[in-house]
Amino acid sequence: MSSRMPPLDECPAWKNLIAHHREVGNLHLRQLFADDAGRGERFSAEAAGIHLDFSKNRITGETLRLLVRLAEECGLRERATAMFEGKAINLTERRAVLHIALRAPRDRRVACDGIDVVPHVHAVLDRMAGFADRIRNGEWKGYTGRRIRNIVNIGIGGSDLGPVMACEALRHYSQRDLCMRFVSNVDGTDFSEATRDLDAGETLFIVCSKTFSTLETLTNASTARAWVTGRLGDDRAVARHFVAVSTNAAAVAAFGIDTANMFGFWDWVGGRYSMTSAVGLSTMISIGPENFGAMLAGFHAMDEHFLGAPFERNLPVLLGLLAVWNVNFFDARTLAVVPYEQYLKRLPAYLQQLAMESNGKQVTLEGARVAWDTSPVYWGEPGTNGQHSFFQLMHQGTRAVPCDFIGFCQPLNPAGNHHDLLMANLFAQAEALAFGRSAAEVRAEGTPEWLVPHRCFEGNRTSNVLLAERLTPHALGALVALYEHSVFTQGVIWNIDSFDQWGVELGKVLAQRTATEFDSARDPDLRHDSSTNALIRRYRRLRQQGD
Ligand code: F6P
Repeated sequence: MSSRMPPLDECPAWKNLIAHHREVGNLHLRQLFADDAGRGERFSAEAAGIHLDFSKNRITGETLRLLVRLAEECGLRERATAMFEGKAINLTERRAVLHIALRAPRDRRVACDGIDVVPHVHAVLDRMAGFADRIRNGEWKGYTGRRIRNIVNIGIGGSDLGPVMACEALRHYSQRDLCMRFVSNVDGTDFSEATRDLDAGETLFIVCSKTFSTLETLTNASTARAWVTGRLGDDRAVARHFVAVSTNAAAVAAFGIDTANMFGFWDWVGGRYSMTSAVGLSTMISIGPENFGAMLAGFHAMDEHFLGAPFERNLPVLLGLLAVWNVNFFDARTLAVVPYEQYLKRLPAYLQQLAMESNGKQVTLEGARVAWDTSPVYWGEPGTNGQHSFFQLMHQGTRAVPCDFIGFCQPLNPAGNHHDLLMANLFAQAEALAFGRSAAEVRAEGTPEWLVPHRCFEGNRTSNVLLAERLTPHALGALVALYEHSVFTQGVIWNIDSFDQWGVELGKVLAQRTATEFDSARDPDLRHDSSTNALIRRYRRLRQQGD
């Protein structure tokens, strides 16, 4: 049990923040910038090659001081140290939380239950690198002697979203003659569309599941096994076309994959924190061990920064505290992440699991109902596409939507003036959200009076800008670690367990039970409500008609 005292809403800094919000909550960013010519520089920080400009938050120097104070009172330093020392900070599952060990250099020591885990981590990384090289150079052959050209990762949640995001983000660095595909949904369409143009003799499946018991993944893996053995005409083909990534060797063997072809990890790696473990095998095959190592170095650089830097210059701490400020004091319900980088198109989806499965909680570590809001909804799309869809609401809607803009100074695919236009849009959006356009300015442009209210932008809308030189594997690692530790920071302030996910259980249990009822001749289980019973009856009737 946690011994944190007092509860968040009784912390002196929290009470001071409430009083402080009454004083500054109505200040306009226009005013704040007018009062301080150096604000843009003053409210920015840098680490691991990432520059964070947080000056367009509705804060003053005093806000920052109080937020940092809050982090101290909530024991953020102690909790971060406990995480890095391998303490069982995932209280409800009694587990250590050591994803930081996955990117620790060989010469580091990270202990879990008195055992240094770093040699184990590097042993797996070395095996992964050997295997990735054999796929990349064509040495590993399929059952019929053909070279592997297609890699299909089968997994869901943390066993899918990280690899999908990273493979897309680092596609520029990929070996282009390897085709990367991902199957996650139990909807048969996902498997069917991912494999319809593939040659089984050239296809490797990576079955990726921490528990190796996830319904969607095992269903897809069974379908894949039948697809391979059916096309290659021999069950022995499985050994050349399937590898597994899991913590559960017994289940891997029971499925029929030789554990010699399994890459392991450990229960102290949470699914949504696992992209730097063996779960990253598809990423490593795509970009190569060297680039994967550079990505790990980026993660590690941000880990070190998070653990050591003073809170007021600590990027993950600042990002986390600002999210708390916006959620709990400005009633922000959502947080948009808008990368001005096409390769980061899957980053918002990745961050949704990271943030919302971690901090979508309603009880404290002690099991009491929280008296404060917890995680906002994370969402987003690449800019500039978002500008032509949901940005209208962000500029003129009734709800404030804090936004993280992410951009890079150098393009990976230079083309005329595309990159300058892209970045001009990023800076312009942040500026427009913050400063808006007043009625006087609109009138001065000759706008007819009846149209003036429609053309006004009140501004004062919060955003952060994250800027790095170039989207490299190192930069991606630093960026993802930044969000990981920001999510951790938020969870510590809200005093919740950011590392369990009990909220996904009920639906799984009900789905298992419901699935058994479709083929039954009996009336749907009366334990259901009238709505569910009626839906099941209708489905049974109509699916038979379609047969
Ligand atoms: O159901 C949620 C979840 O447990 C996630 O936390 C996890 O990332 C995902 O399912 C997949 O789990 P596994 O890797 O064990 O198949």
